Amino acid sequence: MGSAKGSLLGVGIVVVLLAGWFAQKYGLPPPPPKIAGIDLGTTYSSIGIYHAVTGETTIIPDDIGKKSVPSVVAFLPNGTVIIGTRAVEQQEHNPKRTIYDAKRFIGRNFEKDNKDFLADQKRYPFKINLDTEGKAFFEIPLDFGVKNVYPEEIGSLIVEYLRTAAGKQLGVTLSQVVISCPAEFNEKQRNFTAKAAQIAGMEVRRVISEPTAAALAYGLHKKQGVENVVVVDLGGGTLDVSVLWLQGGVFVTQAMAGNNRLGEEHGSRQGH
Ligand SMILES: *[C@@H]1O[C@H](CO)[C@@H](O)[C@H](O)[C@H]1NC(C)=O
Ligand SMILES: *[C@@H]1O[C@H](CO)[C@@H](O)[C@H](O)[C@H]1NC(C)=O
Repeated sequence: MGSAKGSLLGVGIVVVLLAGWFAQKYGLPPPPPKIAGIDLGTTYSSIGIYHAVTGETTIIPDDIGKKSVPSVVAFLPNGTVIIGTRAVEQQEHNPKRTIYDAKRFIGRNFEKDNKDFLADQKRYPFKINLDTEGKAFFEIPLDFGVKNVYPEEIGSLIVEYLRTAAGKQLGVTLSQVVISCPAEFNEKQRNFTAKAAQIAGMEVRRVISEPTAAALAYGLHKKQGVENVVVVDLGGGTLDVSVLWLQGGVFVTQAMAGNNRLGEEHGSRQGH
């Protein structure tokens, strides 16, 4: 199955390259980018576009010029949604309806008496609850009642924001996405990361791990003599160290370790 998928992807790339060659030869405009790369981070998120013709990648700023958009989603009492820097700016006056760190809860189930969950419930200014399956959701008090919002829905609002801002700037509809997630995310967490993009109406081409995305971004897969890569990812709320092994143009994660609770007193944890 892997190879069939690989060759399909190969054909796609050849078509895009051909289109680029035609465009250059006959003076047509290059094909507009359609696949976005989104880094949905714990504290910041961003969107990039790969230009098939030039091979360049650009990070697209939002409408107020931010390339790193705070992963913060706020609701006003009347239901209006505010995202990113604007959400941070009003956070102080609206703490119960301003959701951040949603990624820490995405695709996870908790027991009612889970110590970490109970500590989180106390720590955050907004209300977090568990449904019957143990999935965490946020309870947001609005004028017309309490709105329950799941972490992947918060993610989808951020994806939608990035997609709309980038699409507007490029004059295209971005319908496909490659989205990154932490290396230690399990199948379910990856699934719900993909779901965030799907709720935003995007087709998910692939979910890749963040250290792999970083190594690709530095072009390490094309460098001679690169075999092992150590990626140290110091994020706003997380520290992850991964060792990647470059095998036939593909990165295989060999080991990882991290602490996803920077600034707190939790011990480090070992990835699987
Ligand atoms: C919601 O409330 C905000 C702030 O009070 C206001 O600016 C906005 O116009 C309202 N939106 C709607 C749809 O009523
Ligand atoms: C992931 O998503 C797919 C399709 O949406 C579903 O079939 C599969 O069961 C999900 N896996 C997990 C572990 O949630």
